[in-house]
Amino acid sequence: MRSFEKSYQLFDRASKVIPGGIPGHQSPTLLVFGSSPCFIERAEGSHIWDVDGNEYIDYMCGYGPMVIGYNHPKVEAAARAQSTLVDTCNLPSERYVELAERLVGLIPIADWAIFGKNGSDVTTYACRVARARTGRNKIVMVEGSYHGIGAWCISFTTGITPEEQASVLKFDYNDIEGFTRLIDENKDDIAGVILTPFRHEAFHDSEMPAAGFLETVRATCDDIGAVFIVDDVRAGFRMHMGGSLEKFNVKPDLICFSKALGNGHPISACVGSESMKDAASQAFFTGSFFTSSAPMAAAMATLDEMEATDAVQIMYDRGEMLKDGLLDQADAYEQEVHYTGPEPIPFMTFATEDGWDRSKLFCEECYERGVFFHPFHNWFISAAHTEEDIKKTLEVTDAAFKRVKTEMG
Ligand SMILES: Cc1ncc(COP(=O)(O)O)c(C=O)c1O
Repeated sequence: MRSFEKSYQLFDRASKVIPGGIPGHQSPTLLVFGSSPCFIERAEGSHIWDVDGNEYIDYMCGYGPMVIGYNHPKVEAAARAQSTLVDTCNLPSERYVELAERLVGLIPIADWAIFGKNGSDVTTYACRVARARTGRNKIVMVEGSYHGIGAWCISFTTGITPEEQASVLKFDYNDIEGFTRLIDENKDDIAGVILTPFRHEAFHDSEMPAAGFLETVRATCDDIGAVFIVDDVRAGFRMHMGGSLEKFNVKPDLICFSKALGNGHPISACVGSESMKDAASQAFFTGSFFTSSAPMAAAMATLDEMEATDAVQIMYDRGEMLKDGLLDQADAYEQEVHYTGPEPIPFMTFATEDGWDRSKLFCEECYERGVFFHPFHNWFISAAHTEEDIKKTLEVTDAAFKRVKTEMG
């Protein structure tokens, strides 16, 4: 049996001096508390090691930021080289302009880019740009969708006033009729519509856009003069290098990126079309670390490496191998599962249960045998995952399915 002793000792220490111990999505209470690690010691490629020395093939990738491997030599060398010159300072460095130029060259809808640190920075900013552009207040979003910790959108409302969320209207994902009705009733007030490229909130099967859904959103925004914002924070650079909606041939006005952009270095970006640029310059956007140069150097090295190696295709291929293997095993052990999401950002749930007991048992066995999945949140494939990793993973998942079958039928 693996020991997680040091992890839980550290969690006890953390709980004394940090509210919630590890607050938010990285809390061990959201894994299989007691049977999963709480703290990481190091990470390399597609593997991570916890503080008790247990090794895992990692399918969470830091909840998305790691896209070409932890501690990637080219990315780390670029960040280090930049740090020795300057990182955070009074003024930005040339990297700031270079990265904006790089994104404008890479992303078809982008005529400009602006940088922040977190996904929440840029999703909140994009809404302000939409308001500045239209002179209207309301933002339309999907019920349950996660766009970060901005007060305007967060569904955990402790400490948040109803007024802070009063400018948001919600509809159900893929409900074209409901969307059209909501727009009809409010069209003179709507500044923008914000969507993720596919439905991927935690505790839920993922869902791809229904036929005509994205096209309807695009056409409706054009009809009423509203701004179409894509929150590509989670999916960006895993489905397509030019923004995930390129996969569906639909062009938004603004796209928010973060997570994978710097392969783990803290950076986010909002990019937009020429018609949004004046509004974008009016919406005040700044932060002490927004112009830091080392994450920008890391981002450029990440994008270069991804393009040179066709990283997105690798993730689709590895994701397909994992999916085929897991679905075969589910069949063999007579487990009905839902396997959803695009191949690089998959999620598997057990179809026959109300709660999450099978998912937790499955993950518990995987942690024990050295594979890190999440019971309630979508997983991430990286281009650092090798075929050998997937083969080893499938040996582990075979045992995990077997345990689920044995203990739960
Ligand atoms: C789709 C989406 N938007 C926004 C965010 C917020 O990003 P951050 O946690 O970097 O603020 C996340 C984070 O998970 C996300 O998945």
